[in-house]
Amino acid sequence: MSELKIAIQKTGRLSDNSRKLLEECNIKIPNGSNALKSRAENFPIEVLYLRDDDIPQYVEQQVADIGILGENMVYEKDKDVVILEHLGFAHCRLSLAIPLKEVFTGPEHFMNKRIATSYPRLLGDYLAQKNITAEIEEISGSVEIAPGIGLADAVCDIVSSGSTLMTNGLREVVTILKSQAVIIVNKNLETGKQELLDKLIFRIKAVKNAKENKYILLNAPEKAVPRICKILPGMKSPTLLPLVEKGWCSLHSVVKEDEFWDRIDQLKSAGAEGILVIPIEKMIL
Ligand code: PRP
Ligand code: ZN
Repeated sequence: MSELKIAIQKTGRLSDNSRKLLEECNIKIPNGSNALKSRAENFPIEVLYLRDDDIPQYVEQQVADIGILGENMVYEKDKDVVILEHLGFAHCRLSLAIPLKEVFTGPEHFMNKRIATSYPRLLGDYLAQKNITAEIEEISGSVEIAPGIGLADAVCDIVSSGSTLMTNGLREVVTILKSQAVIIVNKNLETGKQELLDKLIFRIKAVKNAKENKYILLNAPEKAVPRICKILPGMKSPTLLPLVEKGWCSLHSVVKEDEFWDRIDQLKSAGAEGILVIPIEKMIL
């Protein structure tokens, strides 16, 4: 019987959310404290805990069939793998940063400078595109301390909250790439593994859709219903239930999380009352 091998980050920005996503897909992984791999109890999947930097190579070589990691790393490593799905977490950007006291005039600021980074390919592409000659100092971690210890004039690294830059007296001046967690796959999956992957992706989409949407319930006078229906399109159209009080009804629908504050103002002015917004656990479209 087939088994799918998934590589996720062992420790770091992505690891907790990667595990959480699998759990939300109802894939139970035993909590081995320092295990480098573990087998799920209720789905034919083996989880490999690796450095995110190594995941593209392992997926290309079929050591793992699929992997969860940042898009930034996928593009940097440029291996022969396919991005299947954006996962909506670990949002960050790859940026250039300079010491706080320096004035920034534009990309030419970096002419003949030394830039420390763990992303030599992406930085090299950016510099070439801007016709800038600079020295790339490749280091594998703690990039942000490089200017402070005289190793470089600037850095090119991942920024999420920005606190690492701030702690090191640096300021973000150029964003090269925006990134989030993605799922990558080997190009030559055998049929049995592909079927398992389809099942997994189906679950991931249901979890992702659920997170991006909210269930909304409200009360409204019957005469306000046509206007409210225009504001709340829903998956098909809103559900309408009568209230005991004559002339009133209850409307149920689904709204996109990132639109819902905007919609709520419109709903209130259309006559909606007692609005409840409830998280959705799974959503199958
Ligand atoms: C990045 C980057 C910074 C930190 C920035 O590391 O190297 O150290 O995150 O986050 P902040 O803006 O919230 O302070 P990453 O998690 O990619 O780790 P890795 O390079 O060790 O894999
Ligand atoms: Zn890493």
